[in-house]
Amino acid sequence: KKSGNLNLRSPICCILGHVDTGKTKLLDCIRGTNVQEGEAGGITQQIGATYFPTDNIRERTKELKADAMLKVPGLLVIDTPGHEAFTNLRSRGSSLCDIAILVVDIMHGLEPQTIESLNLLKSRNAEFIVALNKVDRLYGWKKCLNAPIVKAMKLQSIDVQNEFKMRVTQIVTQFKEQGLNTELYYKNKNMGETSSIVPTSAMSGEGIPDLLLLLINWAQRTMEEKLTFMDDIQCTVLEVKVIEGLGTTIDVVLVNGVLHEGDQIVVCGMQGPITTTIRALLTPHPMKELRVKGAYLHHKELKAAQGIKITAQGLEHAVAGTALYLVGPNDDLDNVKDLAMQDMKNVMSRIDKSGEGVCVQASTIGSLEALLEFLKTPAVNIPVSGINIGPVHKKDVMKASVMLERKKEYATILAFDVKVTPEARDLAEDAGVKIFIADIIYHLFDQFKAYMESIKE
Ligand code: GTP
Ligand code: MG
Ligand code: NA
Repeated sequence: KKSGNLNLRSPICCILGHVDTGKTKLLDCIRGTNVQEGEAGGITQQIGATYFPTDNIRERTKELKADAMLKVPGLLVIDTPGHEAFTNLRSRGSSLCDIAILVVDIMHGLEPQTIESLNLLKSRNAEFIVALNKVDRLYGWKKCLNAPIVKAMKLQSIDVQNEFKMRVTQIVTQFKEQGLNTELYYKNKNMGETSSIVPTSAMSGEGIPDLLLLLINWAQRTMEEKLTFMDDIQCTVLEVKVIEGLGTTIDVVLVNGVLHEGDQIVVCGMQGPITTTIRALLTPHPMKELRVKGAYLHHKELKAAQGIKITAQGLEHAVAGTALYLVGPNDDLDNVKDLAMQDMKNVMSRIDKSGEGVCVQASTIGSLEALLEFLKTPAVNIPVSGINIGPVHKKDVMKASVMLERKKEYATILAFDVKVTPEARDLAEDAGVKIFIADIIYHLFDQFKAYMESIKE
């Protein structure tokens, strides 16, 4: 049962798909949690991470007589947003993964971000399974809680079975138009060339055992080549968060390597590279989402793959979405610092050179990139003169107020998914700087547009 002498890391599985196809709900169903209902507008706007120990997965697949010889300790599952604004987060998620689940709503078939996700996976040569979700929405579906899909399907009326077949055929054709062969997994005899479809319901759990078993079988098959442990650290900062009693912490995904308490690390900071020492390595309990606040477990060392909360000094200005670097005994610290600042340079290059434009502020470099990308699209076209990551403070208002002399309507802060301090709010009111806040990206545009129109009048 234990891994013995094999040095393998846990595979990373990324969930991708069009908005509202049920990606988060599928994970909730497996975890027994309710993350989706806590999301603003019911949409995911961050990358999430959940660790599933092999034992739990084995338990859930019992009915299918799963192979008990698993050699990986578990599976790290990455949730991503499906909303069109978050292409960069889908890209980041898919760049971290060994395998993916592409979720399609059986009632909708292929949608724009399904195709975008498919192309991302193709470009990375990633293997994936299609979860054909919401089968319970077939008219007349009889619930069969957490049952394997073939068993659940046998209990359905002929009408339900016919509608199911018809929709599957349509969706297989749509995939074919995208150059992809797909087949229901229990009919798929050529796993290498044809991608498997697993019908699921995130509401009543049908097909979930099948989905988990397929993931595990995949891990078994390919792990020797893909999952052999490497010494180099590969680690991405997902979020920077202040936690009561812990101070500023960073949530990271450790893709490869081992991190220890006391390791020296470098992360990208708003004001330059941050060199610090790991004070504590924390994880949520297994089967809990890292991005949701909860109780943490302490570790002396952690091996990839894992979603980890790191506490250390000086993380206040760390930039989410960037890589974390370990300073090894043979590394040149200045080199490591340069590497750590690379992502920030890319974002800074997107700021309007004329110096005229609004200020934008977001919670992570990922959401900032998404917002900058969105503001640049021709239909929106709002120039940006300044950016920041994290809550809006007085100094941010002061920076935005510079525009009052040049172009009054640009003396504006678009704040996405961040808080505004009361002092900043007071100053903005006195100075005549507008602050628009929203936790859904396109609401910012609606507010700003309405403001621009009100100015014209
Ligand atoms: P984004 O992260 O915003 O892209 O969406 P998502 O793909 O994570 O979908 P989410 O889990 O937020 O689910 C969207 C809606 O579909 C919610 O109202 C869910 O309750 C519902 N839903 C998800 N899966 C199922 C399912 O299997 N059956 C039914 N009937 N509803 C589902
Ligand atoms: Mg979601
Ligand atoms: Na959603």
